[in-house]
Amino acid sequence: MKALVLAGGKGTRLRPLTYTTAKQLIPIANRPILHYVMEHIRDAGIRDVGIVISPETGQQVRQALDHAGFDVHLTYLVQQEPLGLAHAVKISRDFLDDQPFVMYLGDNLIGQGLRPLVEAFERARPDALVLLKVVNDPRMFGVAELDGSGKVRRLIEKPKDPASNLALVGAYLFGPAIHMAIDGLEPSWRGELEITDAIQRLVDEGRAVHSSILESWWLDTGKKDDLLEANRVVLDEWIQRDVKGVVDDGSQVIGRVVLEEGATVRRSQIRGPAVVGAGTVIEEAFIGPYTSIGLHCSIIGSTLEHCVLLDGVRVEGIQRLEDSIIGKGAVVRRLHGKHQAVRLMLGDDAEVLL
Ligand code: DAU
Repeated sequence: MKALVLAGGKGTRLRPLTYTTAKQLIPIANRPILHYVMEHIRDAGIRDVGIVISPETGQQVRQALDHAGFDVHLTYLVQQEPLGLAHAVKISRDFLDDQPFVMYLGDNLIGQGLRPLVEAFERARPDALVLLKVVNDPRMFGVAELDGSGKVRRLIEKPKDPASNLALVGAYLFGPAIHMAIDGLEPSWRGELEITDAIQRLVDEGRAVHSSILESWWLDTGKKDDLLEANRVVLDEWIQRDVKGVVDDGSQVIGRVVLEEGATVRRSQIRGPAVVGAGTVIEEAFIGPYTSIGLHCSIIGSTLEHCVLLDGVRVEGIQRLEDSIIGKGAVVRRLHGKHQAVRLMLGDDAEVLL
């Protein structure tokens, strides 16, 4: 079995972060989302992995994976334009050959491993196996309708009026028949070749399309609040206490906190779950739960909670910063003596809520 990881696309819903960073590389608990994906693939015993990349962010994705030590064989496949998930499969045809494969969306985080799914697929050898999850608002996903016996009857991409609350999770298993289904596809209303439509063609032809309901959590990190939620869940479930940095006598580091080597805490309190990257300085600050702080940041005289700070961020004199994502090298600082004034230099598409 091979794997195809989709790490292309444009990431428009996560601008401005995605002007400079591939959306699959945005850190969750200080690790790129893509690393969690790769871990699941490796742990399922898959060693031959194709990575679909875009011309714009492909180089970053390579850098993030090439020396990450996943011990799998990587083949990079450049998709010139983000013309859809099925298009990504189409351009990977030579790599995939006629082998069965897992297709994994590089911005999806799933709380459980893939191994049981791969084993179920190998036992039954259907043409496709889709993973489904009950969600509150299925309109922004592919949606599956099952018949009484649990067989997939219909799949619709982002329906206005969903027939069920079962969303398609971004991990699929396919046999070679999917290529033929993709060959005859027309672009959807959003101009993309939809994998959902290709699977529907398999259903229409009476092919074996199996489904499995995901028991664990699942997060599609497509928007700001989804990213914060992913950060919360990963910190909650996967982080163990590991304090390697320097903590002075006037500070307290409470609970499941990762303080990387070379981080410094002075006259501050950190309450886990939280992670603090190497080279970061925290001084006279309170870092509340569900906060991830990248490398070489400085947090001075401030209170943070439920935030994701990328590398090199400076926060100074801010009474309370919460539910925020701050991009690389950004500065958030209180001006003294200017009571009402707010002075900003913001990148394109930034959002400020005061
Ligand atoms: O997250 C699950 C959902 O993913 C499913 O429920 C939907 O049925 C499926 O169509 C997909 O919907 P999205 O609109 O969320 O897909 P998105 O455009 O965000 O792309 C998913 C990943 O694939 C993302 O990491 C970018 C990558 N991608 C996307 C496109 C369109 C590519 O590599 N190439 C592409 O052409």
